Amino acid sequence: MAEKEIAETEMVEEKPAEKEIVEKKPAEKKIVEKAEKELALEDLPGVGTATSDKLSESGYKTVESIAVAAVGELMDATGMTESSCKKLIMAASDNMDMGFETAAKLMERKSTIGKITTGSEELDKLFDGGIETQSITEFYGRYGSGKSQIVFQLCANVQLPVEQGGMDGAALFIDTENTFRPTRVQQMADHLGLDKDKMLEKIFVARAFNSDHQMLLADKASDMIKENNIKLVIVDSLTSLFRSEYAGRGTLAGRQQKLNRHMHTLQRLADLNNLCVVVTNQVMANPGLLFGDPTTPIGGHIVGHQSTFRIYLRKSKGEKRIARMIDSPCLPDSECVFSVTENGIVD
Ligand SMILES: Nc1ncnc2c1ncn2[C@@H]1O[C@H](COP(=O)(O)OP(=O)(O)OP(=O)(O)O)[C@@H](O)[C@H]1O
Ligand SMILES: [Mg+2]
Repeated sequence: MAEKEIAETEMVEEKPAEKEIVEKKPAEKKIVEKAEKELALEDLPGVGTATSDKLSESGYKTVESIAVAAVGELMDATGMTESSCKKLIMAASDNMDMGFETAAKLMERKSTIGKITTGSEELDKLFDGGIETQSITEFYGRYGSGKSQIVFQLCANVQLPVEQGGMDGAALFIDTENTFRPTRVQQMADHLGLDKDKMLEKIFVARAFNSDHQMLLADKASDMIKENNIKLVIVDSLTSLFRSEYAGRGTLAGRQQKLNRHMHTLQRLADLNNLCVVVTNQVMANPGLLFGDPTTPIGGHIVGHQSTFRIYLRKSKGEKRIARMIDSPCLPDSECVFSVTENGIVD
């Protein structure tokens, strides 16, 4: 309770800084608009002056903002049909700058991929061996589904030697909800036979107070990653600050652009340092879905497309949890059962 109060006061104190950033935005936007002058909104298929005006009014002023928009948001903003909005997003993203490398080079880079065990053989099997470096792995699910427990466990497991499923490395934990609990990680590490105190020295925790601060922490992480042999970067939770700050605003375009940039930063950290990025994400009710599980992860397709592995966690009986691999680029969609116990994540 006391912790929460401190966090809230600090958040209030942060606000002037936030304001500065907001005030700077118009100038920033102008630069972006200038840089993308060669491609105006009206150059996109199906966009005439009226639609272009509607888009601008709703905050979609650049081609980039459309490329990273969610279909539903664009439908609300323009009144266009779902299929037209999808086409528009595709056309916009086709026009964004892409970096190419040869498949041979890519293969070479992929051959250096490392893996961290989750602690559960079944869960590891779902990943074909463990959580991979050079990728973003996203765990999403309701409260209590085990998202934080998994990332706590990984903070300990990354420190294990390679033969035991670790990477002999350290962890960086960006905590947006004040949920990191050293004693809980100690409990898990103890079970692995790791030194309880030395182990905590290898977990670097940063509390993020707002979404700009969260992004800044990731932007500035490079140096400390190299200095401390960090092999795991965690963001728990990826979306909560974005979600609360942008709640009730007319447009979500700004939020989606920021999330998009944040995910790019995280992917770059994963690639350049051959490390694992693991993020957690909450779900929201999706009333549009009549059949199946009516929950969808926050952040729309921005988060979905940029996560290499996406796992949906559900509570089952007692300690049991069900994990489902969703949309993996190379693994089948499948499910497994694991447990969250006092000792941590196990089969
Ligand atoms: N020491 C422990 N021993 C056994 N089980 C534990 C222990 N600590 C936590 N758990 C289990 O983990 C659950 C909490 O899971 P977790 O914190 O990972 O939720 P979450 O998915 O991160 O939820 P949220 O969205 O609220 O952050 C508890 O409900 C409990 O079942
Ligand atoms: Mg949590």
